[in-house]
Amino acid sequence: MTARGEFSSRFGFLMAASGSAIGLGNVWGFPTNAASNGGAAFVLVYLLLAFGLAHPALMAELIIGRHARSNAVRALQGLATGPGTRRLGTVVGLAGIVTVSLILSFYAIIGGWMLAWALNAPASLLGLTSVSSWLRADSVTRNALFDVFFMGLTIVIVLAGVRQGIEKWGRRLMPSLLGILLMLIVYVLTLEGAREGLAAYLVPDFSKALEPGLIVAALGQAFFSLSLGVGTMLIYGSYLSPRENLSTVGWMLAGLDTSFAFLAGLLVLPAMYVALANGVEIYDASGALAAGPGLIVSVLPALFDTMGLAGQFVAFAFFVLMSIAALTSSISMLEVPVAYVVESFGMTRRRATALIGGLVSLVSLTIVFNFGLLFDLVVTLATEYSQPLLSLFFVIFVAWIWHRNGVLEELQKGHAGVENTLFWRIWPVYMRFICPLAILAVYVQLIFL
Ligand code: PFF
Repeated sequence: MTARGEFSSRFGFLMAASGSAIGLGNVWGFPTNAASNGGAAFVLVYLLLAFGLAHPALMAELIIGRHARSNAVRALQGLATGPGTRRLGTVVGLAGIVTVSLILSFYAIIGGWMLAWALNAPASLLGLTSVSSWLRADSVTRNALFDVFFMGLTIVIVLAGVRQGIEKWGRRLMPSLLGILLMLIVYVLTLEGAREGLAAYLVPDFSKALEPGLIVAALGQAFFSLSLGVGTMLIYGSYLSPRENLSTVGWMLAGLDTSFAFLAGLLVLPAMYVALANGVEIYDASGALAAGPGLIVSVLPALFDTMGLAGQFVAFAFFVLMSIAALTSSISMLEVPVAYVVESFGMTRRRATALIGGLVSLVSLTIVFNFGLLFDLVVTLATEYSQPLLSLFFVIFVAWIWHRNGVLEELQKGHAGVENTLFWRIWPVYMRFICPLAILAVYVQLIFL
């Protein structure tokens, strides 16, 4: 057995885990979901679901992970009380591994676009017009090459291991991400049209708050944003020191992720309305606001083009920001299957990373070559159907299958006296009944809507 990795400090863990949580989902998913779903009304529903349902699911994964000090499959098997629950643990753990590999395979495509657009700015500044137009055009060759480039970066970091790879890059990249984001917000807010964007974001349209589609969208967004249901937070939890206070880091993580999503809204929505003020179309053919990856690679570059030379620098900063956000998330995705193969089959980390990274790249390239057919399908299956359902099982494992004293012992490790806190008093009822039923209710809506 190789020695297991461990994060060197709370800061190191927080940078790595918030690096996983904060990603493309925060920068394009959250703001555009908010804009199309009633602005601040969506933000409020999101806050409620993120802290009411996603945070408990996050705690479930962190607690199981730190307790088991192992990957999701083994961890869940270890909590089983008989052959039935053991089989359930295997299925849920493996389903998480498949899901996270699918997420990585579509995420790497968008990550590749971000890299291409980041390189476009220096190319056009240097007057390399043909390179620049190749980088900007949505071609299968460009997408395939940059997909592989992005996967290559992910693989190189994961190869280096928990401390030397994941933690080191999280510590470097996350503070830069915040710096670039703040600079961009300040700049964009000075431009004409930014106010309308702020209003679309921050003035609630309560008529939309109760629409069923909004709740489903907000819950999906919250689970995707906190990287839940697929064993990512579980494996990061397994690298967390036993001296750490789990409830504190859980709150901090949910708080960091949500704050970042909120901040990204202060950039993206004003930027869209600045683009509108500059004559860029921000609504699609059906009259809905441009959203998703399309927004990032159509509306925003058009905005940067209207800003002359400054626009090239802003574009560079923006796409570097997106690439960093994507990379710190993709490494956490690859870590899940890699840890499983290393721990369960005794393969070396090098081999496992190369093998799984290679396999995911192949799946990802298959999506690139059949984009129209596969992209939306894989996104929907993995993020809307699989993630919330698997999260529900993690919660069930903690609340129903694992003995309550086991959970308490794990929480007590970094937090003496946790049994006297309000958190622990509410926890059992909340985790057994309220949380699973609420997730189930939203899930049923998703299926029958
Ligand atoms: N949380 C990431 C984002 O918001 O972009 C996406 C993600 C990362 C999903 C890791 C799942 C995962 F395991």
